[in-house]
Amino acid sequence: MAGRGSFSNKLGFILAAAGSAVGLGNIWSFPFEVGAGGGAAFLVMYLIFCFILCFPVMVTEIAIGRKTQLNPAGAYKALGFKKWSILGLQGIFSGFVILSFYNVVAGWAFGYFIELLFGHFEIGKQFGDFTKDVFKVGSYAMVFMFATAFIVSKGVAGGIEKASKILMPTLIIMILGLVVYSLTLDNAMIGLSFYLVPDFSKLTLSVMGSAMGQAFFSLSLGMGALITYGSYVGKGDNIVSSAAFITLADVGMAFIAGLMMFPMVAYLTDGTMEGAGQGAGLIFTVLPGAFESLGSTLGVIIGASFFLLLSFAALTSTVSLLEVPVAYVVDEKGVRRNRAVWLIAGLIFVIGIPSLLSNGYSGFFTNFITYIGAENPTSFMDFAQNVANDTLLPLGGCLISIFAAYIWKTKNLNEEIEQGYPGYTGSFVQKYLNFAVMFLCPTVLGIMFLLTFLQTFFGINLF
Ligand code: PHE
Repeated sequence: MAGRGSFSNKLGFILAAAGSAVGLGNIWSFPFEVGAGGGAAFLVMYLIFCFILCFPVMVTEIAIGRKTQLNPAGAYKALGFKKWSILGLQGIFSGFVILSFYNVVAGWAFGYFIELLFGHFEIGKQFGDFTKDVFKVGSYAMVFMFATAFIVSKGVAGGIEKASKILMPTLIIMILGLVVYSLTLDNAMIGLSFYLVPDFSKLTLSVMGSAMGQAFFSLSLGMGALITYGSYVGKGDNIVSSAAFITLADVGMAFIAGLMMFPMVAYLTDGTMEGAGQGAGLIFTVLPGAFESLGSTLGVIIGASFFLLLSFAALTSTVSLLEVPVAYVVDEKGVRRNRAVWLIAGLIFVIGIPSLLSNGYSGFFTNFITYIGAENPTSFMDFAQNVANDTLLPLGGCLISIFAAYIWKTKNLNEEIEQGYPGYTGSFVQKYLNFAVMFLCPTVLGIMFLLTFLQTFFGINLF
């Protein structure tokens, strides 16, 4: 397909897809979701969702992308099911919503890099004032969207691949180093047991719902990002082993981010773990204090590099988020790639303004909506996250599996997977994937979606 480009080889695809998966979802939202969800009970649910339910959805998305070589909306049409392109459009819409708030948080991470570069460790205590300073954080967010658009305009192989190759491994090494450090801190064991020893009495429907949303969000699933990336994959590649690698890399990264965070929270709160459930500010309030305890020179070096690498991890994710609508208008509407990139990036930046304002600056957006049955109002940014991560993505995952199993048919899915994976037919992997796509994903994801949707937005608890 002239002009669409493709990854230069299998490794290029895997790294780019892992780059899409690994991002703020692992290091920013995973720890705060664990904190808010009562610790290890959340972790257990998260692992179950990732490996048992999300993995088959990931294989399916990549297979649909590679089969059709198209964007999510075009893909369903090309398989002969025009009506299903609405599912692709749902995914594209989810991508818009996610990128609009994700870019704001990425701007915070980038801003923290600058602050820590100047040794401003106090920023952890001033997080609320920082997010309220909309001109400052707005400028960081703008720089970030600009960088994203620039890379996407360079095409898949040139920009996306190269950036992922060096930065991801560096970030992993850095976090592992911080894990070792945080395990030496006072009260580390209290933090660790909060994270690793489950208290199943904390396992409510809403904890399960957020674990499901977090799993989809973190693996970049349910919206077609991997259909789009899959469209650039070669026919000789093994989709199942690629998906296994991406899942393991993503879950592994989230897991070690938790190992890094909770001992630090325990240390900074004298073992009370108070504030572990504070939400979106968790890494931003906790980490600067921990970096400061490394001493001023080392603290600046480690702290600033950490947030710089986090910004890069976010960048390989924002790039994949922007690539989805761009591929759509390039494929379907015949718009030139460059023009599509800048127009859509600008539009999503504007859509992100309410999220930017909803962290203290504007009362209206900060207390945007009070769900039925809820005590406190939800900010616009949290609302956007509830709509996208906890609702649209799991729904998308459920519908994608229904599509693959019953509309496109499991036989065709298997044929696509078989290419690049010769021993697939008749294997245990095939049996499991087919069982998951036909029965497990549609029912479990469908039921969970309905239950959490009713509970989150309407306070109706059927469970
Ligand atoms: N998975 C990314 C992260 O964890 C976010 C993302 C979601 C990217 C959906 C693409 C699609 O940061």
